[in-house]
Amino acid sequence: MRKMTFIITAVLLSTLFSSTLFASKIRGEYATKNLVGQDYYLKRCSSCHGEGSRGGNMASIREWKMLFSDNASELKDLHLDDDSTIKIVKYFESKTFKKESKLMMKLLQEFAYDSEHIPTCN
Ligand code: HEC
Repeated sequence: MRKMTFIITAVLLSTLFSSTLFASKIRGEYATKNLVGQDYYLKRCSSCHGEGSRGGNMASIREWKMLFSDNASELKDLHLDDDSTIKIVKYFESKTFKKESKLMMKLLQEFAYDSEHIPTCN
């Protein structure tokens, strides 16, 4: 019986451990403190633009500010050409985006190509 308990504990612990590992993997090597902004990014953008460090790398800190200004009109324009991006355009027009955009922009700026945190090997 003891042995059984041991095995169950071991299995539980290893599941716990690997899910933590997985989480740190999608969060990347440099860990941000802006976990809320990161979750917004991962939920809304990462399916097409990859993890935050790659997504943020699309623009500079100042460019992200421009892209998000004026209700993100520029960001919206960038997604108008493609059929696959209809949903994200709707999202840019939504109230949810208004609520999420501030922290999302902060996250992207943190990983902008001129930010000190960005890994330089890609
Ligand atoms: C359904 C897929 C999809 C989603 C989701 C998506 N994008 Fe895009 N994005 C694209 C495509 C397609 C382009 C245009 C082609 C390109 O430049 O990669 C693009 C272009 C961009 C560009 C311009 C890139 C450049 O090289 O100039 C930025 C910046 C950008 N997206 C940011 C975002 C952000 C921020 C989000 C989340 C709020 C997001 N995208 C969500 C598909 C997507």
